[in-house]
Amino acid sequence: MHALLTTLAALAVGLPWAHATSYDPLKPPSYPLAVRSPYLSAWIPGNDVESLPTSQAQFWAGNNLGWTVFARVNGDVYSLFGVPDAPAGVKTATVTEATYTSTHSIFTVEAGARTLTLDFFSPVSPKNYLRQSLPFSYLTVTVQDGIACAVQIYSDIDNTWTGQSNHSSWSYSAKDDTQVFQISAKDTATFSENADGQALWGSAVYASRPWAGSSLSTASGPGSAVRGRFVSHSTLTGTHADWTTDGVVAFVHDLDTFSDTRTVTFAVGHAREEAINYLGATQTGYYRSKFSDTADAASYFLDDYTLAQLESNEFDKLVSNTGDAAYGSNYSDILALSVRQVYGGIELTIPDESLDTSETRAFIKEISSDGNINTVDVIYATFPIFYVLSPDYIKLLLSPIFDYMGSSAYDQKYAVHDLGEHYPNATGHLPSGESMPIEESGNVIILTYAYQKATGSGDLATTYAAQLEQYATYLNENGLYPAAQLSLNDALGALANQTNLGIKAAVGLTTYGTLTGQQKYIATGKDWADKIWTDHLGTDEQGTHFLLQYGTPPWFLAFNQYADILFDLNAFPEESFNATGEFYPTVRAAAGVPLDGSVGWGQTNWQGFVAATVDGDAREMFISDMHSYISNGLNTAPFSDRYWVQTSGSNSPGEAYAFRARPTLGSHFALAALRGANTWL
Ligand SMILES: *[C@@H]1O[C@H](CO)[C@@H](O)[C@H](O)[C@H]1NC(C)=O
Ligand SMILES: *[C@@H]1O[C@H](CO)[C@@H](O)[C@H](O)[C@H]1NC(C)=O
Ligand SMILES: *[C@@H]1O[C@H](CO)[C@@H](O)[C@H](O)[C@H]1NC(C)=O
Ligand SMILES: *[C@@H]1O[C@H](CO)[C@@H](O)[C@H](O)[C@H]1NC(C)=O
Ligand SMILES: *[C@@H]1O[C@H](CO)[C@@H](O)[C@H](O)[C@H]1NC(C)=O
Repeated sequence: MHALLTTLAALAVGLPWAHATSYDPLKPPSYPLAVRSPYLSAWIPGNDVESLPTSQAQFWAGNNLGWTVFARVNGDVYSLFGVPDAPAGVKTATVTEATYTSTHSIFTVEAGARTLTLDFFSPVSPKNYLRQSLPFSYLTVTVQDGIACAVQIYSDIDNTWTGQSNHSSWSYSAKDDTQVFQISAKDTATFSENADGQALWGSAVYASRPWAGSSLSTASGPGSAVRGRFVSHSTLTGTHADWTTDGVVAFVHDLDTFSDTRTVTFAVGHAREEAINYLGATQTGYYRSKFSDTADAASYFLDDYTLAQLESNEFDKLVSNTGDAAYGSNYSDILALSVRQVYGGIELTIPDESLDTSETRAFIKEISSDGNINTVDVIYATFPIFYVLSPDYIKLLLSPIFDYMGSSAYDQKYAVHDLGEHYPNATGHLPSGESMPIEESGNVIILTYAYQKATGSGDLATTYAAQLEQYATYLNENGLYPAAQLSLNDALGALANQTNLGIKAAVGLTTYGTLTGQQKYIATGKDWADKIWTDHLGTDEQGTHFLLQYGTPPWFLAFNQYADILFDLNAFPEESFNATGEFYPTVRAAAGVPLDGSVGWGQTNWQGFVAATVDGDAREMFISDMHSYISNGLNTAPFSDRYWVQTSGSNSPGEAYAFRARPTLGSHFALAALRGANTWL
């Protein structure tokens, strides 16, 4: 009773908190808006959502993207999204709800007489390469039923999407009833990026078509003039003026007078015909096998809306059920926030010359940490999501790496770290680039087996049998006492005798023996695991936990044990998992378990792996800490997989540490993977 009276009183006097936004299931650091490729990656910080009408979308790096929505409702114009400086007379809508699923971010706003929703929908369609490869995302604006009145919806984008705001060009085309704007940077090199990591070639795309009986008008020109025209009239002029620095390309849907629920949909995108520079052969998007023209592809993307929406409902449900069944709704919340970020870091390609879909490849960008292309350990960190949802991606990502390693351009005995220093140039590993001999050799073996176990298909192991044998031999000769070298945590520097590398070698050899049916490798892997754990080579004297280096504290989070559990290899004794499950909670810091006893930060991807190697309280601790981290309101960057677990200098526990938007979040599916492979059909 008291609460109700308080709410009514607040409404009466218009206190701001009377309109507090509600968040379902939680308010994340950043909501994906249009996240489909490393170059179509638009987000909005969770903390900005309450002020969505005046807050701007951001590229993953944090730079603003011009993308607005206004609605005229019963004659009054409201800004709904992306308008820091509204034209005179424009009112501001009120944001009441914000929701995310695996594929949608949905915001509900009140604009005078009507309630509207903005549904930012980035399809994730792991088994449908055509749908997955289309480099576009949907924005659907729905006017909920309400009192009969006229509504017009305005939306525009600007040249910030090209990465070069001051020197671009635009074009307009119509195909049947689909209207398409494209904006391109001028005088820039193919395959080049700006300092924020935006593509400086290809084109930003904004497209729409009449929807629900709407009449559609368009304009391009200076933002103030185009928006001013919408404020004073309900349609645009159809004028397509020459490009200007402050220019926008804009659509208006005039829905006339109605009282039922109506929707209009836009497609926003970034398309490059020359997508990836792969060992001298340009690769293009998979979708170009069907649509050689960007405008045709955008039009098809709008055709596909209904089916994509149906699929997303099923897909969201699958991810949500997977999470719930495998350890509760906290876990589902983490998975749902991770999915678009993973698939949005990957592109599916075919050769630009032949357009031959039998040569489909996938490329993944090490977003924000260094931009490397097809980094083997990034694929390794990500693989649990592939194991659960789309194991073929392991083959699509690994084949170009095996092909490169098998060529005369690569002459090491161990597996390579990456296919090139900077996406989209998969031009080969630079001698000056990173190498992680033990780690990557173990990774390619484990990834090959993961693909085979999840799909039942032996083609990858057969095609690259000689190379796999070579890497197993390398592990056999070098793996128990690793020389000074980098590991997956390159922040630690090159250290000798890293326990986690010994673990990777033991598990890698056991996996190789299992993959090829060679008992001697299985025996060696188990023997090493016994040395490391049972004989205390890699543990403290009492054998309660693993150490960073043999015989040398501090303790270390032994995430390389994960494949042992996933594949039921029994390389390490059960006691090692029981003991570490008891140990990790004892070294938890304020906001979670750090990577080792000497650093103040942890990584959610490795916490995700370790959560799958322990039971009970320890497992719940890892899930709960990750959940608390993504809902603590302290962060604004797209899900950073590295964060401070304790106070460190000016950083507070629960604050993100530098990384952002990395596709490595596939690791969060490590627990789900224990419940089954290849579950999305
Ligand atoms: C773009 O032009 C604006 C206005 O002329 C100027 O303030 C800004 O510095 C320019 N930006 C770049 C990156 O050249
Ligand atoms: C990729 O290589 C081209 C030269 O072929 C270069 O112009 C471009 O800047 C490179 N891209 C990146 C992101 O380093
Ligand atoms: C690694 O550990 C072994 C056994 O403790 C030792 O013999 C070897 O010298 C160490 N290697 C290096 C590079 O420190
Ligand atoms: C490990 O823990 C499980 C569950 O508590 C228990 O059943 C098992 O006996 C333990 N194994 C060892 C080797 O301690
Ligand atoms: C879910 O996570 C929150 C932290 O965000 C934690 O307080 C809560 O206890 C967790 N719930 C369960 C059932 O573990």
